[in-house]
Amino acid sequence: MTCLIKSNTTLLKRIASRATTSVFGQYQSNYSTSTNNVYYKQQEPISLVGKNALVTGGSRGIGYGIAHELAERGCNVTILSRDETRGKEALGSLPLTHQNQRHGNLVADLSSSNAPKQIDSLLASLKSTTTTDDQQDSSSSSSSSSFDIIVHAAGIAQSSLFMRTNPEETTSIINTNLVSPIYLTRQLIKPMVQSKWGRIIFIGSVVGSMGNKGQTIYGASKMGVVGFSTSLSKEVGSFGITSNVVSPGYTETDMTASIIQSPLASKILEKIPIGRFGHVNDISKTVMFIIESDYLTGQNIHVNGGLFTSP
Ligand SMILES: NC(=O)c1ccc[n+]([C@@H]2O[C@H](COP(=O)([O-])OP(=O)(O)OC[C@H]3O[C@@H](n4cnc5c(N)ncnc54)[C@H](OP(=O)(O)O)[C@@H]3O)[C@@H](O)[C@H]2O)c1
Repeated sequence: MTCLIKSNTTLLKRIASRATTSVFGQYQSNYSTSTNNVYYKQQEPISLVGKNALVTGGSRGIGYGIAHELAERGCNVTILSRDETRGKEALGSLPLTHQNQRHGNLVADLSSSNAPKQIDSLLASLKSTTTTDDQQDSSSSSSSSSFDIIVHAAGIAQSSLFMRTNPEETTSIINTNLVSPIYLTRQLIKPMVQSKWGRIIFIGSVVGSMGNKGQTIYGASKMGVVGFSTSLSKEVGSFGITSNVVSPGYTETDMTASIIQSPLASKILEKIPIGRFGHVNDISKTVMFIIESDYLTGQNIHVNGGLFTSP
């Protein structure tokens, strides 16, 4: 009996010693003595305190969720939207986490063919604006006209069959979802290049990849930003700038309220393996993940509960 116990102990010791040289065992031992692992590099999490972020569409829905999260993390957040009252309301509810933090809001209609001019004059006004202490009273109180992070979330949807679309609607969708984000990026990228750090994130859509009846122009605009972002990532990666797209599925916001509250909702839910519609936080969490990564660029990340999967 004693002999059996001894031999079992020996066996256990042998197994244990092998375990440290097996793949699993090596990982275990290297984690506990990190100096052994030549590949592992300890990295401080990126601090966003004091970084300047611009979030278009930051007055509501997905854009607001992202703006809130960035403010929570210490960024100076500027939101851009078209309705001044809604913009100011959103600005007033962004958290302030440290003394020097400043938020601001800008008003422009990105659907207009005049949008580039509006953008230029807003950026010029930011350059000449001195910051005020009262974020509530200022319509453009961001401390800087140069941004470290740009999130393009402003967007409009479409619900018209292609044969019923008209040139005005087409131009408006393409301007808001594709042309204005490209122009804005063009006007804001130089300071990022100079500071050798930047994050550019476009909010795309599952419709760009999957298609949907009644959303031909919308789908084209959303896939357009994927093409733009992918090429941009190759041009600016060497400057420490990443460019990515986050493509939501059905997410609960004003944009989808009429669908989510309709009888159609249950039919859509059947196609979503996770079994629920997305929350704004599902998207903002993904955006924060991208912002924290130095090595993730040129991607189109789908956040849709499994409605559409891409290899
Ligand atoms: N919700 C979804 O299920 C879903 C799914 C896939 C992709 N997306 C995309 O996610 C982004 C955000 O959508 P959301 O659901 O949050 O929409 P939302 O609740 O309707 O909010 C849209 C935002 O964009 C702004 N905006 C719209 N048109 C604009 C214009 N012409 N000029 C300037 N700002 C404008 C709005 O500003 P105002 O408040 O001033 O109107 C608002 O801040 C969009 O790009 C959308 O295509 C959404």
